[in-house]
Amino acid sequence: MKGVILAGGTGTRLRPLTKMINKHLLPVGKYPMIYYAIEKLRVAGVTDILLVMNNHSASLYTNFFGSGKDWGVKLAYKIQEGAGGIAEALELAESFVHPGEKLLVLLGDNLFEDSLANYVKEFELLPEGAKVFLKQVDDPRRYGVPVMDGALIKRIEEKPEHPSSSYCVTGIYMYDSSVFSMIKAIEPSARGELEITDVNNLYADKGLLTYHILTGWWIDAGTFPSWYEATDKLREYPDPGNHAPTPGDGF
Ligand code: G1P
Repeated sequence: MKGVILAGGTGTRLRPLTKMINKHLLPVGKYPMIYYAIEKLRVAGVTDILLVMNNHSASLYTNFFGSGKDWGVKLAYKIQEGAGGIAEALELAESFVHPGEKLLVLLGDNLFEDSLANYVKEFELLPEGAKVFLKQVDDPRRYGVPVMDGALIKRIEEKPEHPSSSYCVTGIYMYDSSVFSMIKAIEPSARGELEITDVNNLYADKGLLTYHILTGWWIDAGTFPSWYEATDKLREYPDPGNHAPTPGDGF
C-alpha cells in the first residue's frame, strides 16, 4: 500500500499565520503538523509516501524531512499549483501508484489517535473499493456527512445545512487504484474545486464504499480553536509509553 498525504490548500481559517507559513508546517507539540500524518503511515507499515504540497513553504518541507530516511520512511514530493481541491491534489499521485496497488490517503491537517495498522492489513485483502473513517462530532455541518446503510455508505453530503447524522467523514481514506478514473469522471463543485466527496460518492453509487468509526480523538486542525486543541493533545508526544523514533535514533 502506498501513502499519500495532502498538504495543499491556503489555510484561510488560520490567517494571518498562514500568510507566513503553510498551515501543515505550524508547530504542534515538538513537530510541524504534517509530521503526525507521516508517523501514522509509518506505524501502519506504509512507508512509501507521496507528499502533495503547494509552492508556499515547499522548501521548508524538504529541508525538514529530506528523503524521509531519518524519519523511517521514503518520501516523494509533488507540487499542486493553485487550489483545485483535494481530489485534484490526489490526482497528482497517479504516477506514484502502480495499477492494482492500493493507497492510504491522509489530509495533513487531520490529527488522530487510532492506529490504522489493522485496517491497512484488512483493506489490502479486499478485491476493490474504498473505505472512509468516520467520527461523531458536535457540528457535522462543517464536514462531509455520511448516510449509512448497514456496512456501506449510501451517500455523503458535503457540508449539509441539515445533517442526516452526527457523524463526519474524516480526512482518512483508503482507495483501490480505480480512484484515478473516478477523479477524471467528476466536475468542479460550486466552489470551483474537485471534491473528494464526489469521488467517494462514485464508489458509494457502486456499493463499494465501506467505513470504520474512529474510537479515539480526532481533530481537523484547520481552525485556531482546533489547532490549539491539537497542540494541547500532542504537547507531550512522544509520551514515555510511545516508542516513536526521533531523528538520530538510528532507525
Ligand atoms: C474536507 C472534506 C470533508 C471532510 C473534511 C475532514 O473538508 O471535503 O468532507 O469532512 O475535509 O477534515 P475541508 O476541511 O477541506 O473543508
